Amino acid sequence: MSSIPSFQLNSGVAMPALGYGVFQIDPATTCEAVCQALDCGYRLVDTASAYHNEQGVGEALARWMVEGRLTRDEIFVTSKVWVTQYGDEETHRAVASSLRRLGLEYADMILLHFPVPSAFEKTLAAYRALEAEQADGRIRVIGVCNFHVHHLQKLMEQCRLVPAVNQVELHPCFNQAALMAFHAQHGIVTQAWSPLGAVMLYDAASLDKPRRLLDEPVLKEVAKACGKSPAQVVLRWHIQRGVAVIPKSVHRERMAENLDIFDFVLSDEAMDRINALNCGQRGALDPDLVTMDTYPNTIED
Ligand SMILES: NC(=O)c1ccc[n+]([C@@H]2O[C@H](COP(=O)([O-])OP(=O)(O)OC[C@H]3O[C@@H](n4cnc5c(N)ncnc54)[C@H](OP(=O)(O)O)[C@@H]3O)[C@@H](O)[C@H]2O)c1
Repeated sequence: MSSIPSFQLNSGVAMPALGYGVFQIDPATTCEAVCQALDCGYRLVDTASAYHNEQGVGEALARWMVEGRLTRDEIFVTSKVWVTQYGDEETHRAVASSLRRLGLEYADMILLHFPVPSAFEKTLAAYRALEAEQADGRIRVIGVCNFHVHHLQKLMEQCRLVPAVNQVELHPCFNQAALMAFHAQHGIVTQAWSPLGAVMLYDAASLDKPRRLLDEPVLKEVAKACGKSPAQVVLRWHIQRGVAVIPKSVHRERMAENLDIFDFVLSDEAMDRINALNCGQRGALDPDLVTMDTYPNTIED
């Protein structure tokens, strides 16, 4: 298997282009899942205080470090500050709590989980607290999630550091082309969440016809022609667009499959066929509509 390339972030820090996401992994099984992912070769783990499984991530890292299988500088750990943790003091406390749960002295990247348009002053206070944490060495790079262009513009007018990363919903059905053009102008790396389109199934039980991205005939055709799986084709599509990805799986064979995408190239024609899946419709709620109460979630300190 070829090694994972990196993206150079605006602060000079290198970030693996492909990592392991742990959203919706049971806290009780997260340590085991992350150990499997590390064993497959993942060197970036994406968690969040809101996932309630930072501790499991920390246990896996500690186990690997104690066993001498991993050094701190070989792993890139991302976590996120939840909206109820926004504010100056609150966000400093949130970072300290995440680091304690992860068992780390510093995080590689901390992101704001959402913009809160109705409490944008709090969102900005949270970001400024992250800037201070970065200056004090407890975070290597800072960024945001789910920001539209207008949220980024407002933040960049009023804060010192341009976010290194904006982690957003992005998959072939929702390709975020306009946002990516803005990121390119400002040196912001785009990181795709739900890179395999899982968000379109989050509420599958309530949908008449849930859209399963990996069942799209075009992906199956391209996959067959490349000797790869539809998931590998989609992840490769992201990488060729210059997008970082953090696919999640609890199955070891899929973890390995999702990593094995650096030994083939999609032709321009295949890229165009996949691009044609875009319907410009997100699976998740528009971040402009997110409030402090949209997703009730209590985070312990
Ligand atoms: N910042 C944010 O607001 C935000 C929001 C959502 C997610 N995220 C991050 O993004 C990460 C990934 O997003 P996601 O979990 O929504 O979705 P995803 O990575 O697009 O897809 C995960 C789903 O696809 C399945 N899967 C994985 N590999 C597969 C393969 N090779 N073949 C077939 N099915 C496969 C998984 O099932 P199994 O596990 O059963 O294999 C799971 O149901 C999250 O874990 C989280 O770290 C961030």
